[in-house]
Amino acid sequence: MTLKTIVETAELEAFRLALFSAGKKLAFVPTMGALHDGHISLVKQARQTADAVIVSIFVNPTQFGPGEDFNRYPRTLTEDAKKLAEAGCDAVFLPNIATIYPEGFQTWVRNEPLENQLCGASRPGHFRGVLTVVLKLFNLVRPELALFGKKDYQQWRLIEKMAADLNVPLKVIGSETVREPDGLAMSSRNRYLKPEERAMAVAISRGLKAAVEKYKAGETNAATLTGIVAKEMASQPAIKVEYLTICDQMSLAPVGESVKGPAVILLAAQLGTLRLIDNMELNPAG
Ligand code: PAJ
Repeated sequence: MTLKTIVETAELEAFRLALFSAGKKLAFVPTMGALHDGHISLVKQARQTADAVIVSIFVNPTQFGPGEDFNRYPRTLTEDAKKLAEAGCDAVFLPNIATIYPEGFQTWVRNEPLENQLCGASRPGHFRGVLTVVLKLFNLVRPELALFGKKDYQQWRLIEKMAADLNVPLKVIGSETVREPDGLAMSSRNRYLKPEERAMAVAISRGLKAAVEKYKAGETNAATLTGIVAKEMASQPAIKVEYLTICDQMSLAPVGESVKGPAVILLAAQLGTLRLIDNMELNPAG
């Protein structure tokens, strides 16, 4: 199958209308490119649930803070297009900056209670940028469903909440985190880890996994569970933990003393110049 490249919104509209008039269901996977197997798993899942799949690649400037890596964010379009074609993606949407942020742009989507929590605490404005670009992409593409990775758990939940709160007419699906064989969650930025940092980074998923195992064995004390991860982190002093917490899966509110319902253990850490995030769900048995 050939991958259709779409830049202009008129082409996007024509693509969408052709599917719509044929009664076909369109699934959408928004990305910033530098695609890896995590992204591709979303495309494959989309392929299974819909008749056609469109992926967007847009490195969204408004979700990067002033000191962040917008300029050095990896851009690998040729390889990305090849991977998408192989995964059975129908079209890639590469909007111009002027399509997304025309001159005079001034309207933003925010979730005030949650945008400054967790990752938002150290990345002011990040989720405002994410929610705004995602809603714009939803309105341009108008898919029936959109897929997001649980790797970015807070992002997924905020997008799901936005869709519910604003009556966005599509279904938001969360997809499992794809990991390297040693457990490290795949990320476009992992390529910037130095070899010695790459070896240390595995402690994050190892710690989270140990906490999940302990939870499955019956431990529900939140401090005990986070303590297991903290101990693993302490074995790698180069990893500076930014937050390590257990939250309710839906509201993302901290669980308090003990884990009662579906929860998620979330961590963000600095390693060298990179910021790494990961999480694992704590799902009650049965
Ligand atoms: P990006 O980091 O390119 O990620 C695109 C999608 O891939 C997101 O839904 C993300 O959660 C998912 N993803 C990344 N790593 C993954 C992994 N290891 N396993 C499973 N899914 C993974 O997230 C963004 O782009 C942007 O914020 C975006 C939503 C496109 C808005 O600009």
